[in-house]
Amino acid sequence: MQGDPKVVAGLNEYLSFELTGHRQYLIHAAMCRHWGFARLAGIQDAYSAEETQHAARIATRILMLDGTIAPRELGAIGGAATVPDQLARDRGLVGGAIVHLRAAIGDCEQGRDFVSRDLLREMLDDEERHLHWLDTELGLVQRLGLQNYLQSQTG
Ligand SMILES: [Fe+2]
Ligand SMILES: [Fe+2]
Repeated sequence: MQGDPKVVAGLNEYLSFELTGHRQYLIHAAMCRHWGFARLAGIQDAYSAEETQHAARIATRILMLDGTIAPRELGAIGGAATVPDQLARDRGLVGGAIVHLRAAIGDCEQGRDFVSRDLLREMLDDEERHLHWLDTELGLVQRLGLQNYLQSQTG
């Protein structure tokens, strides 16, 4: 089934965010676990797994539209050196994904590809929740102070 090229391009762009996020959160989880912040590590692992699921579903959709899976590298993958820097870096990535998703959903509407639209809309819901979680954690760092916040991440 031939898909709209603009829709396929939008799916590939989101796939780039997914694969970047998957690896970034995986590295952040490993670092948090190494530092003893087990709560954060578990949550970062779950977000890494969520992006893997998103990536698999996007890749399947691209193939169904007779498209080529062609994600690009969104930036150097490496862990940020502190927990607040990790949260801020993740926030930048998720925020960028949300901006892209809103535009891509519009392109799906224009191309009358309602199945891709619904798929991306579902993922936008997940990414907005992800952004909200990051904002909540960054807010807690501000309100509790970094030491108290980190203390609460060890269990
Ligand atoms: Fe995602
Ligand atoms: Fe996410």
